[in-house]
Amino acid sequence: MRILVTGGAGFIGSHIVDAYLAEGHEVAVVDNLATGRRASVNKGAKLHEVDIHSREVERVFAEFKPEVVNHHAAQASVKVSTGDPVFDLEINGGGTARIASLCVEHGVRKLIYASSGGTVYGEPAELPVPETHPTKPVSNYGLSKLVGELYIELMARTAGLDYTNLRYSNAYGPRQDPNGEAGVVAIFTGRMLAGEQCTIDGDGEQRKDYVYVGDIARANVLCLERGNGATLNIGTGQGTSVNEIYRALDAATGNTIAARNGPPRPGDVRNFWLDTTRAQEVLGWRPEVIFEDGIRTTVASFKED
Ligand SMILES: NC(=O)c1ccc[n+]([C@@H]2O[C@H](COP(=O)([O-])OP(=O)(O)OC[C@H]3O[C@@H](n4cnc5c(N)ncnc54)[C@H](O)[C@@H]3O)[C@@H](O)[C@H]2O)c1
Repeated sequence: MRILVTGGAGFIGSHIVDAYLAEGHEVAVVDNLATGRRASVNKGAKLHEVDIHSREVERVFAEFKPEVVNHHAAQASVKVSTGDPVFDLEINGGGTARIASLCVEHGVRKLIYASSGGTVYGEPAELPVPETHPTKPVSNYGLSKLVGELYIELMARTAGLDYTNLRYSNAYGPRQDPNGEAGVVAIFTGRMLAGEQCTIDGDGEQRKDYVYVGDIARANVLCLERGNGATLNIGTGQGTSVNEIYRALDAATGNTIAARNGPPRPGDVRNFWLDTTRAQEVLGWRPEVIFEDGIRTTVASFKED
Protein backbone atom coordinates (compact mmCIF):
# COMPACT_ATOMS: atom_id res chain seq x y z
CA MET A 1 0.00 0.00 0.00
CA ARG A 2 1.23 3.57 -0.71
CA ILE A 3 1.04 5.53 2.56
CA LEU A 4 1.83 9.21 3.06
CA VAL A 5 2.82 10.03 6.66
CA THR A 6 2.71 13.70 7.63
CA GLY A 7 4.97 14.50 10.59
CA GLY A 8 7.05 11.40 9.80
CA ALA A 9 10.25 13.12 10.97
CA GLY A 10 8.75 13.64 14.44
CA PHE A 11 8.73 11.48 17.53
CA ILE A 12 5.56 9.41 16.99
CA GLY A 13 5.37 9.76 13.19
CA SER A 14 8.87 8.35 12.67
CA HIS A 15 7.93 5.16 14.56
CA ILE A 16 4.81 4.82 12.39
CA VAL A 17 6.94 5.15 9.24
CA ASP A 18 9.21 2.38 10.57
CA ALA A 19 6.21 0.15 11.36
CA TYR A 20 4.61 0.63 7.91
CA LEU A 21 7.90 -0.08 6.11
CA ALA A 22 8.39 -3.19 8.25
CA GLU A 23 4.97 -4.41 7.02
CA GLY A 24 6.15 -3.99 3.41
CA HIS A 25 4.29 -0.77 2.55
CA GLU A 26 5.61 2.03 0.35
CA VAL A 27 5.97 5.17 2.48
CA ALA A 28 6.55 8.87 1.81
CA VAL A 29 6.86 11.59 4.44
CA VAL A 30 5.72 15.22 4.50
CA ASP A 31 7.44 17.23 7.24
CA ASN A 32 8.74 20.80 7.41
CA LEU A 33 11.23 19.80 10.15
CA ALA A 34 9.78 22.41 12.54
CA THR A 35 10.45 20.03 15.44
CA GLY A 36 11.19 16.81 13.55
CA ARG A 37 14.66 15.61 12.57
CA ARG A 38 15.87 14.49 9.16
CA ALA A 39 17.89 11.74 10.93
CA SER A 40 14.67 10.25 12.37
CA VAL A 41 13.22 9.56 8.91
CA ASN A 42 13.74 5.95 7.89
CA LYS A 43 16.01 5.71 4.80
CA GLY A 44 13.30 3.61 3.15
CA ALA A 45 10.91 6.59 2.95
CA LYS A 46 11.29 9.72 0.82
CA LEU A 47 11.10 12.95 2.82
CA HIS A 48 9.24 15.90 1.23
CA GLU A 49 10.23 18.99 3.18
CA VAL A 50 6.90 20.78 2.83
CA ASP A 51 4.57 22.66 5.18
CA ILE A 52 1.13 21.02 5.49
CA HIS A 53 -0.39 24.47 5.58
CA SER A 54 1.07 25.44 2.19
CA ARG A 55 -0.43 24.73 -1.23
CA GLU A 56 2.80 22.93 -2.15
CA VAL A 57 1.63 19.83 -0.31
CA GLU A 58 -0.76 19.12 -3.20
CA ARG A 59 2.26 18.33 -5.40
CA VAL A 60 3.16 15.46 -3.08
CA PHE A 61 -0.38 14.03 -3.36
CA ALA A 62 -0.23 14.32 -7.17
CA GLU A 63 3.22 12.70 -7.39
CA PHE A 64 3.00 9.96 -4.76
CA LYS A 65 -0.71 9.13 -5.21
CA PRO A 66 -1.19 7.85 -1.64
CA GLU A 67 -3.85 5.21 -0.95
CA VAL A 68 -3.80 6.02 2.77
CA VAL A 69 -2.73 9.23 4.50
CA ASN A 70 -1.57 9.14 8.11
CA HIS A 71 -1.67 12.66 9.52
CA HIS A 72 0.70 13.31 12.43
CA ALA A 73 2.17 16.72 11.50
CA ALA A 74 1.09 19.31 14.03
CA GLN A 75 2.00 22.21 16.18
CA ALA A 76 2.23 19.97 19.25
CA SER A 77 3.04 22.41 22.05
CA VAL A 78 0.38 23.63 24.51
CA LYS A 79 2.69 26.53 25.44
CA VAL A 80 3.04 27.69 21.81
CA SER A 81 -0.74 27.40 21.37
CA THR A 82 -1.26 29.70 24.35
CA GLY A 83 1.25 32.27 23.10
CA ASP A 84 0.16 32.16 19.46
CA PRO A 85 -3.38 30.78 19.10
CA VAL A 86 -3.69 31.87 15.47
CA PHE A 87 -0.54 30.01 14.39
CA ASP A 88 -1.69 26.94 16.35
CA LEU A 89 -5.10 26.95 14.65
CA GLU A 90 -3.52 27.57 11.24
CA ILE A 91 -1.35 24.43 11.48
CA ASN A 92 -3.64 22.10 13.43
CA GLY A 93 -7.00 23.30 12.11
CA GLY A 94 -6.13 24.77 8.69
CA GLY A 95 -3.35 22.24 7.98
CA THR A 96 -5.69 19.33 8.80
CA ALA A 97 -8.43 20.89 6.64
CA ARG A 98 -5.96 21.03 3.75
CA ILE A 99 -4.82 17.42 4.25
CA ALA A 100 -8.41 16.15 4.57
CA SER A 101 -9.65 18.01 1.49
CA LEU A 102 -6.66 16.82 -0.55
CA CYS A 103 -7.54 13.26 0.52
CA VAL A 104 -11.01 13.77 -0.97
CA GLU A 105 -9.73 15.44 -4.17
CA HIS A 106 -7.11 12.73 -4.78
CA GLY A 107 -9.35 9.75 -3.96
CA VAL A 108 -7.39 8.63 -0.89
CA ARG A 109 -8.96 5.48 0.59
CA LYS A 110 -8.49 6.45 4.22
CA LEU A 111 -7.16 9.17 6.52
CA ILE A 112 -5.76 8.26 9.94
CA TYR A 113 -5.50 11.25 12.28
CA ALA A 114 -3.45 11.73 15.47
CA SER A 115 -5.66 13.47 17.99
CA SER A 116 -5.01 14.16 21.63
CA GLY A 117 -6.89 12.22 24.34
CA GLY A 118 -5.04 14.21 26.98
CA THR A 119 -6.42 17.57 25.81
CA VAL A 120 -9.67 17.25 23.82
CA TYR A 121 -11.79 16.21 26.83
CA GLY A 122 -10.65 18.88 29.30
CA GLU A 123 -11.38 18.27 33.00
CA PRO A 124 -12.39 14.60 33.42
CA ALA A 125 -15.85 14.07 34.88
CA GLU A 126 -15.09 10.35 35.24
CA LEU A 127 -12.05 8.04 35.16
CA PRO A 128 -11.08 6.27 33.00
CA VAL A 129 -12.28 8.77 30.35
CA PRO A 130 -14.36 7.12 27.56
CA GLU A 131 -14.74 8.49 24.01
CA THR A 132 -18.33 9.50 24.90
CA HIS A 133 -17.05 11.99 27.51
CA PRO A 134 -17.89 15.62 26.59
CA THR A 135 -15.14 17.44 24.70
CA LYS A 136 -14.41 20.72 26.50
CA PRO A 137 -10.73 21.49 25.92
CA VAL A 138 -9.00 23.83 28.36
CA SER A 139 -6.12 24.79 26.01
CA ASN A 140 -5.94 26.27 22.53
CA TYR A 141 -3.98 23.18 21.47
CA GLY A 142 -6.78 20.86 22.70
CA LEU A 143 -9.29 22.92 20.75
CA SER A 144 -7.23 22.96 17.52
CA LYS A 145 -6.72 19.18 17.70
CA LEU A 146 -10.49 18.78 18.14
CA VAL A 147 -11.13 21.07 15.15
CA GLY A 148 -8.97 18.66 13.10
CA GLU A 149 -11.19 15.73 14.16
CA LEU A 150 -14.40 17.63 13.42
CA TYR A 151 -13.16 18.69 9.99
CA ILE A 152 -12.33 15.09 9.11
CA GLU A 153 -15.77 13.94 10.32
CA LEU A 154 -17.37 16.64 8.14
CA MET A 155 -15.42 15.37 5.11
CA ALA A 156 -16.63 11.86 5.97
CA ARG A 157 -20.29 12.95 6.08
CA THR A 158 -20.23 15.20 3.03
CA ALA A 159 -17.63 13.59 0.76
CA GLY A 160 -17.43 9.96 1.94
CA LEU A 161 -13.86 10.18 3.30
CA ASP A 162 -12.98 7.14 5.40
CA TYR A 163 -11.03 7.83 8.58
CA THR A 164 -9.95 6.80 12.05
CA ASN A 165 -9.28 9.45 14.68
CA LEU A 166 -6.88 8.18 17.35
CA ARG A 167 -6.87 10.06 20.65
CA TYR A 168 -3.54 9.31 22.33
CA SER A 169 -2.73 9.71 25.99
CA ASN A 170 0.86 10.77 26.85
CA ALA A 171 3.29 9.03 24.52
CA TYR A 172 6.83 8.13 25.60
CA GLY A 173 9.73 6.25 24.06
CA PRO A 174 12.85 6.57 21.89
CA ARG A 175 13.27 9.81 19.83
CA GLN A 176 11.08 11.94 22.10
CA ASP A 177 12.59 15.40 22.49
CA PRO A 178 14.23 15.73 25.95
CA ASN A 179 14.15 19.52 25.59
CA GLY A 180 10.40 19.72 24.95
CA GLU A 181 7.92 21.37 27.31
CA ALA A 182 6.13 18.07 27.91
CA GLY A 183 7.13 14.43 27.84
CA VAL A 184 8.26 13.90 31.41
CA VAL A 185 9.96 10.57 30.59
CA ALA A 186 12.19 12.17 27.93
CA ILE A 187 12.91 15.26 30.04
CA PHE A 188 13.93 13.25 33.12
CA THR A 189 15.93 10.73 31.05
CA GLY A 190 17.83 13.53 29.31
CA ARG A 191 18.62 15.26 32.60
CA MET A 192 19.62 12.10 34.47
CA LEU A 193 21.97 10.98 31.68
CA ALA A 194 23.51 14.48 31.58
CA GLY A 195 24.07 14.38 35.36
CA GLU A 196 21.58 17.20 35.96
CA GLN A 197 18.95 17.53 38.66
CA CYS A 198 15.28 16.84 37.81
CA THR A 199 12.43 19.03 39.02
CA ILE A 200 9.19 17.29 39.93
CA ASP A 201 6.16 19.56 39.54
CA GLY A 202 4.30 19.78 42.85
CA ASP A 203 4.23 16.65 45.04
CA GLY A 204 4.64 14.29 42.06
CA GLU A 205 1.53 12.29 43.00
CA GLN A 206 -0.42 13.48 39.93
CA ARG A 207 -1.25 10.42 37.81
CA LYS A 208 -1.46 10.33 34.01
CA ASP A 209 -1.71 7.69 31.31
CA TYR A 210 1.68 6.95 29.63
CA VAL A 211 1.60 4.81 26.49
CA TYR A 212 4.68 3.42 24.76
CA VAL A 213 5.27 4.76 21.23
CA GLY A 214 5.64 1.24 19.79
CA ASP A 215 2.12 0.42 20.99
CA ILE A 216 0.87 3.59 19.26
CA ALA A 217 2.61 2.59 16.03
CA ARG A 218 0.91 -0.84 16.19
CA ALA A 219 -2.51 0.84 16.53
CA ASN A 220 -1.71 2.80 13.36
CA VAL A 221 -0.89 -0.44 11.52
CA LEU A 222 -4.20 -2.01 12.63
CA CYS A 223 -6.07 1.09 11.41
CA LEU A 224 -5.03 0.32 7.83
CA GLU A 225 -7.68 -2.45 7.78
CA ARG A 226 -9.96 -1.66 10.72
CA GLY A 227 -11.60 1.14 12.67
CA ASN A 228 -13.27 2.93 9.75
CA GLY A 229 -15.39 5.88 10.91
CA ALA A 230 -14.24 5.45 14.51
CA THR A 231 -12.73 7.78 17.08
CA LEU A 232 -10.69 5.73 19.55
CA ASN A 233 -8.74 6.35 22.74
CA ILE A 234 -5.22 4.93 22.69
CA GLY A 235 -3.65 4.68 26.13
CA THR A 236 -3.04 2.20 28.94
CA GLY A 237 -6.24 2.77 30.95
CA GLN A 238 -4.09 3.37 34.05
CA GLY A 239 -2.51 6.31 35.82
CA THR A 240 1.19 6.38 36.68
CA SER A 241 2.48 9.07 39.04
CA VAL A 242 5.42 11.34 38.26
CA ASN A 243 7.13 9.92 41.37
CA GLU A 244 6.76 6.37 39.98
CA ILE A 245 8.25 7.51 36.66
CA TYR A 246 11.11 9.18 38.49
CA ARG A 247 11.87 6.02 40.50
CA ALA A 248 11.76 3.79 37.39
CA LEU A 249 14.14 6.13 35.54
CA ASP A 250 16.37 6.44 38.60
CA ALA A 251 16.82 2.65 38.54
CA ALA A 252 17.26 2.43 34.75
CA THR A 253 19.82 5.25 34.43
CA GLY A 254 21.74 4.74 37.72
CA ASN A 255 21.06 8.41 38.57
CA THR A 256 22.53 9.56 41.91
CA ILE A 257 21.21 13.14 42.08
CA ALA A 258 18.06 13.63 44.19
CA ALA A 259 15.14 15.48 42.55
CA ARG A 260 13.75 18.76 43.82
CA ASN A 261 10.05 19.55 44.03
CA GLY A 262 8.96 22.70 42.17
CA PRO A 263 5.57 24.42 42.24
CA PRO A 264 2.64 22.52 40.69
CA ARG A 265 1.98 23.34 37.01
CA PRO A 266 -0.74 25.96 36.81
CA GLY A 267 -3.94 24.60 35.29
CA ASP A 268 -2.65 21.02 35.23
CA VAL A 269 -5.33 18.31 35.49
CA ARG A 270 -4.25 16.16 38.46
CA ASN A 271 -5.49 12.71 37.47
CA PHE A 272 -6.21 11.55 33.95
CA TRP A 273 -6.35 8.22 32.19
CA LEU A 274 -8.24 6.94 29.16
CA ASP A 275 -10.73 4.12 28.77
CA THR A 276 -9.34 2.04 25.89
CA THR A 277 -12.02 -0.67 25.78
CA ARG A 278 -13.27 0.60 22.41
CA ALA A 279 -9.86 0.29 20.73
CA GLN A 280 -9.75 -3.31 21.98
CA GLU A 281 -13.18 -4.05 20.51
CA VAL A 282 -12.75 -2.20 17.21
CA LEU A 283 -9.05 -2.69 16.40
CA GLY A 284 -8.20 -5.71 18.53
CA TRP A 285 -5.55 -3.42 20.06
CA ARG A 286 -4.34 -3.34 23.61
CA PRO A 287 -1.11 -1.89 25.03
CA GLU A 288 1.50 -4.64 25.19
CA VAL A 289 4.63 -2.92 26.48
CA ILE A 290 4.74 -2.90 30.28
CA PHE A 291 5.96 0.35 31.78
CA GLU A 292 9.31 -0.90 33.19
CA ASP A 293 10.24 -2.45 29.81
CA GLY A 294 9.28 0.71 27.93
CA ILE A 295 11.41 2.76 30.32
CA ARG A 296 14.42 0.43 29.91
CA THR A 297 14.18 0.59 26.08
CA THR A 298 13.82 4.38 26.17
CA VAL A 299 16.87 4.84 28.42
CA ALA A 300 18.96 2.46 26.27
CA SER A 301 18.08 4.39 23.10
CA PHE A 302 18.77 7.79 24.71
CA LYS A 303 22.21 6.46 25.74
CA GLU A 304 22.91 5.44 22.12
CA ASP A 305 21.82 8.89 20.83
N1 LIG B 1 3.46 13.15 22.07
C1 LIG B 1 2.26 12.93 22.62
O1 LIG B 1 2.18 12.53 23.80
C2 LIG B 1 1.00 13.14 21.83
C3 LIG B 1 -0.22 12.89 22.46
C4 LIG B 1 -1.39 13.09 21.73
C5 LIG B 1 -1.35 13.46 20.41
N2 LIG B 1 -0.16 13.70 19.82
C6 LIG B 1 -0.17 14.10 18.41
O2 LIG B 1 0.70 13.22 17.70
C7 LIG B 1 1.32 13.91 16.63
C8 LIG B 1 2.82 13.77 16.71
O3 LIG B 1 3.29 14.33 17.93
P1 LIG B 1 4.80 14.19 18.42
O4 LIG B 1 4.79 14.11 19.89
O5 LIG B 1 5.47 13.11 17.64
O6 LIG B 1 5.35 15.63 18.06
P2 LIG B 1 6.58 16.05 17.12
O7 LIG B 1 6.70 17.54 17.29
O8 LIG B 1 7.77 15.22 17.41
O9 LIG B 1 6.04 15.71 15.67
C9 LIG B 1 5.32 16.61 14.87
C10 LIG B 1 5.97 16.61 13.51
O10 LIG B 1 5.22 17.48 12.66
C11 LIG B 1 6.13 18.30 11.95
N3 LIG B 1 5.44 19.56 11.63
C12 LIG B 1 5.06 20.53 12.50
N4 LIG B 1 4.45 21.53 11.83
C13 LIG B 1 4.43 21.16 10.52
C14 LIG B 1 3.94 21.78 9.34
N5 LIG B 1 3.33 22.97 9.37
N6 LIG B 1 4.10 21.13 8.16
C15 LIG B 1 4.73 19.94 8.10
N7 LIG B 1 5.22 19.32 9.18
C16 LIG B 1 5.07 19.91 10.38
C17 LIG B 1 7.29 18.51 12.88
O11 LIG B 1 8.49 18.90 12.21
C18 LIG B 1 7.41 17.14 13.51
O12 LIG B 1 8.24 16.28 12.78
C19 LIG B 1 0.82 15.35 16.70
O13 LIG B 1 -0.27 15.47 15.83
C20 LIG B 1 0.36 15.49 18.13
O14 LIG B 1 -0.65 16.48 18.25
C21 LIG B 1 1.03 13.56 20.49
